[in-house]
Amino acid sequence: MATHEDVVLDVDGLRMRYGTKDVLHDVTFQARRGDVVALLGPNGAGKTTTLEILEGFRNRSAGRVAVLGTDPAHGGERWRARLGVVLQSWRDHGKWRVRELLAYLGGYYARYSTPGIRRPVDPDELITAVGLADQAQQQIRRLSGGQRRRLDVAVGIVGRPELLFLDEPTAGLDPQARREFHDLVARLAADNQTTILLTTHDLDEAQRLADRIVIISRGRIIADGTAEQLAQQIAGQDEVRWTLGGQRFARSTEQSTRFVFDLFREHGDSITDLEVRRSSLEDTYLTLVHQAELTGAAS
Ligand SMILES: Nc1ncnc2c1ncn2[C@@H]1O[C@H](COP(=O)(O)OP(=O)(O)O)[C@@H](O)[C@H]1O
Ligand SMILES: [Mg+2]
Repeated sequence: MATHEDVVLDVDGLRMRYGTKDVLHDVTFQARRGDVVALLGPNGAGKTTTLEILEGFRNRSAGRVAVLGTDPAHGGERWRARLGVVLQSWRDHGKWRVRELLAYLGGYYARYSTPGIRRPVDPDELITAVGLADQAQQQIRRLSGGQRRRLDVAVGIVGRPELLFLDEPTAGLDPQARREFHDLVARLAADNQTTILLTTHDLDEAQRLADRIVIISRGRIIADGTAEQLAQQIAGQDEVRWTLGGQRFARSTEQSTRFVFDLFREHGDSITDLEVRRSSLEDTYLTLVHQAELTGAAS
């Protein structure tokens, strides 16, 4: 059984209102130590707002929130030192060199070292871990987009955080840099038991990176589970295509195995060219978001 200590993120009935506009309604989810959770949703869903509240950068309107056992609205420096935050890219420090910046920022965390957690991470070790060894002496403004994002992550983890927040970490990266980034995050989670909450609007990315996907739409959690659990939550429509007597047919069905069985029983070897496409998690995601939008429009 999970102990209280294992619950790193505990969000219960979180609400946020900007002026007269409610942007988070009753958001509830948890994350345990070592979990990699993706907060997945379309633009404007409330992902950044949620993250900023958990990071202690924004005051919530209502609800209960505990991050590493502390209410972020009252988190002090010691609490903050246990978090890592990677924002939607910053553009300062362009003249600094990579190693120089990391050594400087790391200095802040030394006083928050504990017997169990040595802070900060050694800068050279960190530079190697994020794949910037060849750029250690390079000025930050000369880094490529992908290298820049790796540096963002290095800055986020230099204090050896117990919990890492990543807001749209791969936005603007090319496919190659994106893949390298995914590998980096996977290694981080595996090596250090770091709990990671990341946001993305890309389902494929959520699936690759996360043990669990929390789908948010219009400020409401509409699904929460592993990719398999989400796929089961909605009985997706499979698509069956076949050719019979030279003519093409297609049919959507929830029970493709049964359908194909009946099809063959009836037409046997006159069928050529059978193809079954299983509903994907993407179909599930789009269905869920679409349903939430219809419900939202009605309320
Ligand atoms: N400071 C703000 N003042 C007013 N409305 C805001 C503010 N920040 C975000 N919003 C609104 O809150 C909603 C959620 O935004 P956000 O959390 O940035 O979504 P996401 O990160 O999922 O794209 C959007 O409708 C956005 O316009
Ligand atoms: Mg955002």
